[in-house]
Amino acid sequence: MKKMRFALAAGTGLLLLIINSCGSGPESSAVEPKIILTPAPSANVRINGAKIFGVRPGSPFLFKIPATGKKPLKYEVLNLPEGLACNPETGMITGTLNSSGKFMTTVRVTNELGKAEREFSIVCGDDLALTPHMGWNSWYVWENHVTDRIMRDAADAMVSSGMIDHGYMYVNIDDCWSVKPGSADSTLMGEERDKNGMINANGRFPDMKALTDYIHSKGLKAGIYTSPGVLTCGGYAAAYGNEEKDVARYVEWGYDFLKYDWCSYSKIGRTDLLSDLQKPYILISELLKKQNRDIVLNLCQYGMGDVWKWGRKIGGQSWRTAGDLGGSFEGIGKALFRDGFDVYSSDSLHLYAGPGGWNDPDYLLLGYLSNWKGETVPTPLTPNEQYTHVSLWSIVAAPLIFSGDIARMDDFTLSLLTNDEIIDVDQDPLGKPGYRVSRDGDLEVWKRDLEDGSIAVGLFNRGETETEVTALWSDLGISGKQKLRDLWRQLDLGSFDGKYSASVGRHGTVMLRMWPEK
Ligand code: GLA
Repeated sequence: MKKMRFALAAGTGLLLLIINSCGSGPESSAVEPKIILTPAPSANVRINGAKIFGVRPGSPFLFKIPATGKKPLKYEVLNLPEGLACNPETGMITGTLNSSGKFMTTVRVTNELGKAEREFSIVCGDDLALTPHMGWNSWYVWENHVTDRIMRDAADAMVSSGMIDHGYMYVNIDDCWSVKPGSADSTLMGEERDKNGMINANGRFPDMKALTDYIHSKGLKAGIYTSPGVLTCGGYAAAYGNEEKDVARYVEWGYDFLKYDWCSYSKIGRTDLLSDLQKPYILISELLKKQNRDIVLNLCQYGMGDVWKWGRKIGGQSWRTAGDLGGSFEGIGKALFRDGFDVYSSDSLHLYAGPGGWNDPDYLLLGYLSNWKGETVPTPLTPNEQYTHVSLWSIVAAPLIFSGDIARMDDFTLSLLTNDEIIDVDQDPLGKPGYRVSRDGDLEVWKRDLEDGSIAVGLFNRGETETEVTALWSDLGISGKQKLRDLWRQLDLGSFDGKYSASVGRHGTVMLRMWPEK
């Protein structure tokens, strides 16, 4: 059956690049080759990523237009509201908006072969994160070894890999940037706070402001991490009792994103009391809202107290829906199905997320990751599971935050992260997360409504052998002839009525988009 799939794709004239099998995953992955389905980027211009962007009045604005095509590209924005300007060479829109409103602009990007145009809405108001965040986080590859150099290299790699041209925006430090009380490592020792009570970075981060300036100079945004307890999960100085000063510090340093963990707050608040679960997050979000800088707030408390029901109300722009997807390196495959598919379905998480507030099932665990034994090794996910990972995250409108080694990606990993038609599903401006419409044993069909009236459909096979998965129109809530497209291959499949079946590999996925035929 597997051979049949290759033949099918090859028969359509699509170039498939087969890379050596990773051989590091479970037994069956040894025979599962890494096949790049994402077509090579075209020389023609394509504008990618978010079509809508939120900013608060008075906050510094920074948005780099993501576009691919033969370089050099020239960027232009028509009807840009007063207060903003677009740099034609870099595509960075900067400035400040002073009054609320929705501004409909047209982005135009040109190269020697032609131009592309697309609507881009700028919404100045209370809401940030009108589409799920896209970016990179240091945790799963660098854990407690993160440094200023690593963060700069990550920003460089975001640009040189081209990820920035597909909409990736945030470069986020996770735990381990502050002083570690009791540490014997000279780079982690020192005063936790200065004489004014402002938190210090440890010796691995000599100048936080210079670091964020560097990240911003590339058109990217910078993220930081802390916990509401006395210590972070890794045992580093955290925010308890100093929240106001710490937020002021993040603003002074120029951060745009805050991941607020839980961990040692269990010593302060009770996890069986909703008011205790909410208290530190209400405090921090109120402080963030007062700043003249937009700092996106990510709640990281592992889904306690059904956080999806209140995360947005108390000011979060996203909330982790479960524990750490990669807490056990060998267990990532299992966690993908448990925390991705099962948590999401059993709690109907799609009902709670949307523009301004997103369910966060954790990071994209692709490429090279820490195995928590001092080594950086390839993800244990099989190639099919990696397709499933990115597909499911896009269907459920999850943040696309890659946490493998961004400076050491192979073409396969990059192809998983930069398929613009998959990203379009994730970033769809309607912001309606998808959900499971049918389950037949190991076979699941998921659907997401999209802004243009089409739907994205994921055919998933959680079973151990390649099997045919069928999407029935009756399950999808549609009728009549539909024009189908295979999103990973970016290939039209033709017109279908009533149902569509495809053979799906072990733990694999076929991602489709369907438009009603006129
Ligand atoms: C928790 C979080 C992880 C990571 C670590 C850092 O486990 O869930 O995402 O931030 O803390 O210590």
